[in-house]
Amino acid sequence: MGDALAELEHDYVGIARCKSCHGKALMGDQVAVWKQGPHHDAFTTLKSEESQAIALRDGIKGPAQEAPECLACHVTAFHVNPDRISRPLKASDGVQCESCHGPGRSYRKKSIMADTKKARANGLWDPSAASGICERCHNSLSPTYDPARFTLKDGTQAGFDYDQAASYITHPIPPDVKGRYIELDKARKKREKQARGQ
Ligand code: HEC
Ligand code: HEC
Ligand code: HEC
Ligand code: HEC
Repeated sequence: MGDALAELEHDYVGIARCKSCHGKALMGDQVAVWKQGPHHDAFTTLKSEESQAIALRDGIKGPAQEAPECLACHVTAFHVNPDRISRPLKASDGVQCESCHGPGRSYRKKSIMADTKKARANGLWDPSAASGICERCHNSLSPTYDPARFTLKDGTQAGFDYDQAASYITHPIPPDVKGRYIELDKARKKREKQARGQ
């Protein structure tokens, strides 16, 4: 499943449609982890003085937070055909889940999500190293790109290194829950119901 192809076939829905499950403690609350990380604030960054100075230097007219030259990588799905966006995405959500996991409208259903194969067939991307998804934005077109940002094991320097960069934003499903969320969530609900004496 090519990523560009998924973008033609499936709609973006926004992070609110992930939060109902991925905001749960049992799941590992990926939403909370993302909020602490760099991508949540990617749009807010464009309002800073530093951003304004960069825009001015690059001959951009008007505020950085309105410039397509900046928004392209600082919000989700900026380049996507509006027909493929089922509800308006909030710019203030910055680079959210769907920037790396793909347009979520078709895969977000519980029965599909629970089965990785089905989810992939319904637009869920694999953001791991080989896919180049990070490099859609982490590349030399970024005005702040530092070609010496990362030092590799062999001592050479690189502007992007998947393993190190991914380790800074890691948001796992707890290992004892992985593959069992639906079952464990059901058991939790049952216990809570019993505790309420119902
Ligand atoms: C109705 C609940 C629900 C919603 C809504 C939902 N997910 Fe999931 N998601 C799950 C479940 C269940 C799993 C599998 C958990 C497990 O390992 O038991 C999962 C797994 C995943 C995985 C791991 C896939 C894998 O196989 O490695 C990713 C990535 C993911 N979801 C992203 C998203 C994103 C992004 C959204 C919003 C567009 C979303 N999910 C919305 C329930 C949901
Ligand atoms: C090709 C994608 C891309 C474009 C286009 C882009 N950015 Fe970024 N921006 C990034 C990425 C990725 C980072 C984080 C790593 C880096 O600096 O490359 C970043 C980081 C930043 C930072 C934070 C640097 C820091 O010190 O934390 C600022 C400020 C910024 N960008 C401003 C802008 C402005 C202003 C524009 C438009 C003139 C712009 N960016 C266009 C991808 C992009
Ligand atoms: C900047 C890119 C990026 C963003 C934004 C992002 N993720 Fe991920 N996510 C990843 C990467 C990379 C992995 C690890 C993939 C791998 O190793 O297979 C991952 C893994 C996951 C997993 C599987 C964890 C596991 O233990 O198997 C889930 C679930 C997930 N992400 C959900 C989300 C949700 C929900 C959001 C939004 C709140 C989100 N992600 C935002 C890049 C991202
Ligand atoms: C849609 C564009 C986009 C994608 C895709 C993306 N990022 Fe980013 N990333 C950004 C922007 C923009 C920033 C800077 C945000 C800021 O400082 O406000 C950033 C910042 C970061 C940072 C912190 C800055 C640094 O150099 O340490 C890390 C780490 C990072 N991203 C990792 C990843 C990884 C890993 C992936 C792929 C799984 C990924 N990103 C995919 C746009 C993106």
